[in-house]
Amino acid sequence: MPVLAIVGGQWGDEGKGKVVDQLSETADYVVRFSGGDNAGHTVINHLGEFKLHLVPAGIFSSHVVCVIGNGVVINPAVLKSEIEGLNKSGVDTSRLVISNRAHLVMPYHLLQDELEERSRAGKALGTTKRGIGPAFADKTNRLGIRACDLLDKAALGERLAMALENKNTLFTGVYGVAPMSYDQIYTEYCAYADFLAPFIQDTVVLLEHALTNKKRVIMEGAQGALLDPDFGTYPYGTSSSPLTAGGSLGAGIAPNRIDSALGIFKVYCTRVGNGAMPTELMDDIGDTIRDIAHEYGTTTGRPRRIGWFDAVAARYSCFINGLTSVALTRLDVLDTIPALKICTAYELDGARVGYFPASVADLEKCRPIYEELPGWNTPITHVRKFGDLPIEAQRYVRRIEELMGCDVGMACCGPAREQVIQMKQIF
Ligand code: IMP
Repeated sequence: MPVLAIVGGQWGDEGKGKVVDQLSETADYVVRFSGGDNAGHTVINHLGEFKLHLVPAGIFSSHVVCVIGNGVVINPAVLKSEIEGLNKSGVDTSRLVISNRAHLVMPYHLLQDELEERSRAGKALGTTKRGIGPAFADKTNRLGIRACDLLDKAALGERLAMALENKNTLFTGVYGVAPMSYDQIYTEYCAYADFLAPFIQDTVVLLEHALTNKKRVIMEGAQGALLDPDFGTYPYGTSSSPLTAGGSLGAGIAPNRIDSALGIFKVYCTRVGNGAMPTELMDDIGDTIRDIAHEYGTTTGRPRRIGWFDAVAARYSCFINGLTSVALTRLDVLDTIPALKICTAYELDGARVGYFPASVADLEKCRPIYEELPGWNTPITHVRKFGDLPIEAQRYVRRIEELMGCDVGMACCGPAREQVIQMKQIF
């Protein structure tokens, strides 16, 4: 099965970085396909602890070619400092390739994100303020600047002049703030161009060659299905598709070339930013889980909202992603929780519903219907075989599997690469 998509099943932060890092050991290519530096993929392995925002989590496997696909929006300042940080830690980044079709996050996108959030007042989306929404909007609006433009400074200057005229009209006319300087941005981006040019390639050519030669490719998603612009909790979501289908577009790998799709789910739910979350815990249990798991955003440091596992949302996510298997993460976080709840349906306007509503207003009205299972009250971080887990933990995993209607292929019981229980061959 040479092409595997790895996608977030919930609201992001499911632990994709750890799983990609682990499965990269047998991959030839890892292609990050969506989002931007709003993502924060934490990896803990023999080389140390890393928080990646743009570089694919396959970078730690010394034979893997890591591609930042056309579907990613790249803030060159962040990417440069990430590459330099990795090099300082002894990680070789010469295998990094940037798609020449990837769009760039520009300084005016950061300002626009900030101003738009402020103007939403009480209805702010809670974005990461990394300029992601404005960068994707400009891509669609044909106002974007791409990595290939960094290779032609005259083209870069032309594209920048056009975009900045538009942005400065917005900044001065609508928001009443000072315009941004063309010269400053141009000079800054010419310096990034010099730094990044050696990495920029036509990745369609590269990946076509890889697939023709039956190379093993992992497509690495960012964020999670419930933040998808079409299927997530719109408008409280992100701006590029974190789904398997988004992977096809964002990597340039056609749907019929993808052999399997692995969805990553925490064994509870978390969410950063605003928007409905039916199983959110507003009590001590939520605080306890947040403390045990240190649930604070990798990118923004914000405390994550905590909730019980939502099997309605998870089943929906399995379907829209076409998942062939699931990886459950952070099982060990529940080691000391005496009783566990799983949401099996919602009550909406007095009726029991088993689907994930499109309207945020409806989702906000949904009351979770729970099933309760006993906890296991014993540490499991050392366990490597499913049969060695306490019976309560086995039942919890099997019940989630049954409710989702998708096989669980692995379960993680600690942050390190080796803290994993393999239940079936995934890649
Ligand atoms: P944006 O992607 O920065 O525009 O933020 C839009 C929404 O997506 C906000 O609720 C963010 O908190 C959320 N979000 C974006 N990226 C991530 C991520 O990597 N993990 C979790 N939430 C994210």
